[in-house]
Amino acid sequence: MARETKKQTVKAAQAPAGMPINIGINDKDRAAIANGLSRLLADTYTLYLTTHNFHWNVTGPMFNTLHTMFMGQYTELWNAVDPVAERIRSLGHFAPGSYGQFGKLTSLPDVPATPPKAMDMIRILVEGNEAVARTARELFPLADKASDEPTADLLTQRLTVHEQNAWMLRSLLED
Ligand SMILES: [Fe+2]
Repeated sequence: MARETKKQTVKAAQAPAGMPINIGINDKDRAAIANGLSRLLADTYTLYLTTHNFHWNVTGPMFNTLHTMFMGQYTELWNAVDPVAERIRSLGHFAPGSYGQFGKLTSLPDVPATPPKAMDMIRILVEGNEAVARTARELFPLADKASDEPTADLLTQRLTVHEQNAWMLRSLLED
């Protein structure tokens, strides 16, 4: 099922006042990378919440498998938001951290109000992991151009996880 991708409508990262930052990445690139990371943070947080919701609400014959699998994934996602937010801070910008900001920044749809059937949950999570991977991948050329290795490293780690999650979930949909 195709979903429309929400466009970013807010300026994500704000720079705090204080001592100038001189780490070898210019202000414009630091701001652009912080914006991209803010979108990655919002996507990751939204996927975390969706996955935890599905851990609670999954039903059917695959209950045990999915309940356990979703727990592994939401725990990893929960731990992943902190390094993304702290990379934004290291680049000299504030990290978004409210449902309002995340709702505006994320490319993922909100968690369904009515719990879907188990197979639909799997499809939603495949699409969610793929969407986060696209957001991370989009930022890669900029991090590369600015020689921002810590961000490139973080993006590489997140891409590995989301592409692996998507593969494992996708495999459950096959005969
Ligand atoms: Fe639990």
